[in-house]
Amino acid sequence: MHFDTTFRDARVLVTGHTGFKGAWLSQWLHLMGAQVLGLALPPPDDRPSLFNDIALADRIGSRFVDIRDAVSVATTIRDFRPDFIFHLAAQALVRESYARPLETFDTNIMGTANILQAAGDAGGVKAVVCVTTDKVYHNHEWTWPYRETDQLGGHDPYSGSKAAAELVAAVYRDNLWANGAGPNMATARGGNVIGGGDWSKDRLIPDIVRCIIADSPIVIRSPKSVRPWQHVLELCRAYIMLAERLATDGTSASDAWNFGPGQAGEANVETVLSVALRSIGRPQHPVELGPATLRESKLLRLDISKAGSDLGWTPAADLESSVRMTMEWYRRWIEDKGSAPALMDEQIRNYEQRL
Ligand SMILES: NC(=O)c1ccc[n+]([C@@H]2O[C@H](COP(=O)([O-])OP(=O)(O)OC[C@H]3O[C@@H](n4cnc5c(N)ncnc54)[C@H](O)[C@@H]3O)[C@@H](O)[C@H]2O)c1
Repeated sequence: MHFDTTFRDARVLVTGHTGFKGAWLSQWLHLMGAQVLGLALPPPDDRPSLFNDIALADRIGSRFVDIRDAVSVATTIRDFRPDFIFHLAAQALVRESYARPLETFDTNIMGTANILQAAGDAGGVKAVVCVTTDKVYHNHEWTWPYRETDQLGGHDPYSGSKAAAELVAAVYRDNLWANGAGPNMATARGGNVIGGGDWSKDRLIPDIVRCIIADSPIVIRSPKSVRPWQHVLELCRAYIMLAERLATDGTSASDAWNFGPGQAGEANVETVLSVALRSIGRPQHPVELGPATLRESKLLRLDISKAGSDLGWTPAADLESSVRMTMEWYRRWIEDKGSAPALMDEQIRNYEQRL
C-alpha cells in the first residue's frame, strides 16, 4: 500500500497496544516495516488477550506504563524518540466508567494530557493521532449525522471524559503548539468497532462469542439501538492515513476528524446479532432480551464527508463483510488459538487487497 514507505523504518509509538484496536494497529504498522513501541497496562488476566494470542511482544517493543504517571510517560517517550504517536490507551468502556468515574477521568483526560505534554517536550515528533470516539458529541438523538464542528458533550463518564480529551487536545494543537511549537496533531472520532480478538466486557460481538463458547443464551440490551459499526482495520487505515497527512501537510490536517461507516454500516443491535450468528453458523442460537439498565444513546450518526473529500478516506468494507470477517476470526480462534498470529496477518493482507 502506498503508505508503506512513510512508515518503513519510522519510529512509531502506539499507546494501548495491549488492547483490541492497539494490537491490530501495532501489528499492521509492524508489517509495514515500522519500528513500533507499545505503551500500555498489561493485558487483563481474567479473559483471553489478543496481545498474548498474537505474541505481539515478540514482534514489537512493549512497555507496561500507566499513562497517569506523567514522569514514566515522559521518560518512555523521550528515550524512544518517536516520529509518530498513535494515542489509543484509555478506559474505553461506558459501563466501567459508571463503576469507576474518577479512574476514567484520570486515564482519559490527564492520561491524554500526559502523552501530549511528553510528545511536545520530546521534540522531533512529526505527528500525533489522538483517538477519541463518536460519543464525544452532545447527542440530540436525532436523525442527522454529527459533523466535526458540532457541539461536544457526553452524558456518561466515558463520553464526557473523551469530550474533555478533545478539549485538552485542542488547547495543545491550537495554542500551546501553535506556529510550529509542537507536533502536528489530529483527533479521530470513530464509531463502534468490531473485529477479531476483542474480549472486552459489555460489547456486543465479544458477548455473542462468549455465549457461543459457553453454549448459553445471548442476552442483548437495546436491540433497536442504531450504531455505526466498523471493522477495526477501517479505523486503523484512517489513523494511518491521518498520521501520514499530518506529517506531510500538518496545517490542514491538524483538526478533528470523523471516521464512520456511512449509512451502509449503520444497523441496529438486532441486525448485527443476526448477521453474526449466521456468519458463525449458529443462526438458531437462543437470544434473550435483557434490561437496559444504563442510559445509552439510541441513535448516533457520523457525517464522514470531510474524511472523504479532504483525506480521501472512505469505507472499504460494508457491514455484512465486516461482521463476516470478524466472526471468521473467532471461528478459527475457537478451533485453534495457535492460528491467531497468522490469522491476523492474513486478514490485514486481505483487507489491503480491497484498497
Ligand atoms: N472499540 C470501540 O468500539 C471504540 C469505539 C470508539 C473509540 N474507541 C477508542 O479507541 C481506543 C482503543 O479502544 P479499544 O477498544 O482497543 O480498548 P481496549 O479496552 O481494548 O484497550 C485499551 C488499552 O488502553 C490501555 N490502558 C487503559 N488504561 C491505561 C492506563 N492507565 N495506562 C496505560 N494504558 C492504559 C489498556 O492497557 C489497553 O491497552 C480507546 O481510546 C477507545 O476509547 C474504541
